[in-house]
Amino acid sequence: MPKSKSTFFIILLLIYSISASPSVHSATSPADVAALRAFKSAVKPASVPPASCLGTWNFSADPCAVPRVTHFTCGVTCAENRVVQLTLDSQGYAGTLTPLISKLTQLITLDLGPIPHSISSLPNLKTLILRVNSFSGIIPPSIAALRSLVTLDLSRNSLTGALPNLVSLTGLTRLDLSYNKLSGSLPQLPPNLNELALKANSLSGSLTKSSFNGLTRLMVVELSENSFTGTVEPWFFLLPSLQQVDLAKNTFTSVAVSKPPANSNTELVAVDLSYNQIEGFLPANFAEYPMLRSLALSYNRFRGPIPWQYSKKGSSLRRLYLDGNYLNGMGDNCLRSCPSYSELCLKSQKAASICQQAYGGKPKS
Ligand SMILES: *[C@@H]1O[C@H](CO)[C@@H](O)[C@H](O)[C@H]1NC(C)=O
Repeated sequence: MPKSKSTFFIILLLIYSISASPSVHSATSPADVAALRAFKSAVKPASVPPASCLGTWNFSADPCAVPRVTHFTCGVTCAENRVVQLTLDSQGYAGTLTPLISKLTQLITLDLGPIPHSISSLPNLKTLILRVNSFSGIIPPSIAALRSLVTLDLSRNSLTGALPNLVSLTGLTRLDLSYNKLSGSLPQLPPNLNELALKANSLSGSLTKSSFNGLTRLMVVELSENSFTGTVEPWFFLLPSLQQVDLAKNTFTSVAVSKPPANSNTELVAVDLSYNQIEGFLPANFAEYPMLRSLALSYNRFRGPIPWQYSKKGSSLRRLYLDGNYLNGMGDNCLRSCPSYSELCLKSQKAASICQQAYGGKPKS
C-alpha cells in the first residue's frame, strides 16, 4: 500500500473513533463486561493471534460500543447493552471455558468453532469432556490418535459430520456424543466400550454386527432419537454384557429376538424400542431373558396377541409398555386397570388369584 493511502486510512480511523462517543451508546452491562474479561483471561495468551477476534478484545473500549474499528471487531454481538452472541473464529484458542460465561444471561448463541485438530497432540490424555460447549464442525478424525483416552464426552455441542473411526482407542470405555448433529451410519466401535451414548443426533443405517464386533463389555446402549432403520437382530440382544438398551424414536421396522443360549449369563435388564415403525408380532422370546424387568414396545405397528409368556409365572418382567400398537386378543389377561369405558379388558380376564400368582403375590384365600 502506498504511504499516502495508509495515512489516509489512519485519519479515517481517528474520525471514526471520535464519532463513536459514549453518548450514542449506553455502556455494556458491567456484569457482561466482567464475564467477557473472564472469558478472555481463561484463554492462553500465546494461543491468541493479534488479528484474531479475541486479539481485538481490548477492554479499554466498551465491548458493545459501535462502530468497531480496532477493538472488539468480531466475536461479540450485542442488543442494547447486553451481549447476546459469542461467535469465535477458528484460531485454535487454547485454555478453559470460564464458568463466568453463565453471567452472560442474555446470551442466545455461543459458538466456539471447531474442536482443534491439534488436540491429537495430547497422547497421555485420559479424559476429554467438552460437553455443553457449543463446539461446531466435525469431530476431528485425529482424535483417534488419543490412545490413552478412557472417556470421551462431547455431548451437547453442535458437532456435524460422520462419527470418526475410533477403533484404535482400545482403552475407551465411555463414549458420549449425544445431542449433536452427527449423521451417517455407525462405524466399527471401540472394542472395550462399557457405555455408548449417541442419543439425539441424525444417525442412520442399520445396526450391523460389524459395528459391534467384539464389544464384550458393552453394558449401556443409548441410541434413541436418531434415524436408525432396518431390523434389530438377535445377536444384538445377546451382546454378553448388555444391560440397558434404548433404541426409542428411530425408524426400525422389525425386531427379532432369539432365546438366550442356556450357558449365557445374559444381564439384559431394560429394553426400550418404543416410537419406531416395527411391524409383526410381539417377540415372545424377550420373556426368556431372566433379568429383563422393563420392556417398552409402545407406539409401533405390532399386531396380534400379547404373548402369554410375558406374564408367565417366574417372569422377571415388571414394567411392560405396549400402548399405541394394533394388538388384539387382550382378553384372557390380567388387565385390571383399564379405564371403565374400555370394552377391551374388563370382561373375561383371568381370576384375581391367578394374576396375583403370576405377578408374584400370594393369592387371596
Ligand atoms: C488497548 O487499547 C489502548 C488504546 O485504545 C492501547 O493503548 C492499548 O495498548 C491496547 N492494549 C492492548 C493490550 O493492545
